[in-house]
Amino acid sequence: MELLDTLDVIDQQQWLDPTGDTVQRAVTTVLTHDNPTGKKLDNFLNGTWLGHPLHPVLTDIPVGAWTVGLTLDGLESFAGRPELAPGADAATVIGFLGALGAAVTGLAQWQYTVDRPRRLGLAHALLNTTATALYGASIVCRLTGRRGAGKATALFGYTIAAVSAYIGGDIVYTHRIGVNHAPEEPLPDTFTPVLADRELPEGGMERVQVGNVPVLLARYQGTVYALANTCAHLGGPLNEGKMDGCSVICPWHGSRFALDSGAMLDGPTTLPQPRYEVRVRGGQIEVRQPAGEGAP
Ligand code: FES
Repeated sequence: MELLDTLDVIDQQQWLDPTGDTVQRAVTTVLTHDNPTGKKLDNFLNGTWLGHPLHPVLTDIPVGAWTVGLTLDGLESFAGRPELAPGADAATVIGFLGALGAAVTGLAQWQYTVDRPRRLGLAHALLNTTATALYGASIVCRLTGRRGAGKATALFGYTIAAVSAYIGGDIVYTHRIGVNHAPEEPLPDTFTPVLADRELPEGGMERVQVGNVPVLLARYQGTVYALANTCAHLGGPLNEGKMDGCSVICPWHGSRFALDSGAMLDGPTTLPQPRYEVRVRGGQIEVRQPAGEGAP
C-alpha cells in the first residue's frame, strides 16, 4: 500500500469526525473573534504579525532538534562517544518544547479546515501528540538514568513524527492549507471595462470577472476600489463579506483587508490581498494591473 493510499484510508475514518467536532469547537471557543483577547491570540498563533504562518516555522524546531538528538544518541551508542550524551539530551528537550509550540499553532491553523484536510489534520495532530508524549517519556528516562529506554522511546517517537510530517506535507501541498489562495494571475496592463458605474452604489460591493480573475469592486465615499475577490487565507469570496469603513471583511473567517491598498488589517490571514488600479471612463468602471506589478 502506498503512502497516498494510506491518506485515503485516514480520510475514510469517519469516526474521527466527532472528535474533530469537539476539538474544533474547543479551539474556536478559546480563539473566538467575538472578543479582542481571543482575536489577538488567534492572530498571534496564526502568524498574522509575522506575515507568514507561524506553525511551519515552529515545526522546524522539533524536526531539527530531534534529528540532531537521534544522531547523537546513535553516535553515543554505536561509536562509543559518551561525551555526546548531554548534547543528545539537550536536543531532545529543545525539540520537545518546540513541539508544544508547534501543536498550539497547528491547532489555530487547523480550526479553519473542513472535510478531508480536517481529518488529515486531526490524524497529524494525534500522531504528533503521541510522538511528543514519547519524547516526554524519553526525557524522564534520561533524567532518571535509564538512557537505553530514553533512546528507544525517542527513536519510536521520531518514527511517528516522520509519518506525521508526511501527512502535514500533504495538507499543505495537496490541500493548500497555509498557502496563498489569492489569484497569482495578473490583470491586463491596459484598463478593461468591467461594470457600469451606476451599478455600484455607495457602500456597495460587486464581483466581476476579468479573464480568469474574480475581482471585487467596492465604492467607499465615492471612490471605487478593486481587490482580488478570492481571499488569500482560504479562498473566501470577499464580495459576500461586508465593508467596514475603507476595508472589507471576509465572510468565511473574518480576515480584513484595506480597500485602498489590499493590506492585511486583521487575521487569520497572514497575507495581503492583490489590489488593482481603477478608473471610471464613459460611465464604465475599468480596472488594470498596477503599473510595474506584473506576473509574480
Ligand atoms: S477565507 Fe478565511 S478569512 Fe477569508
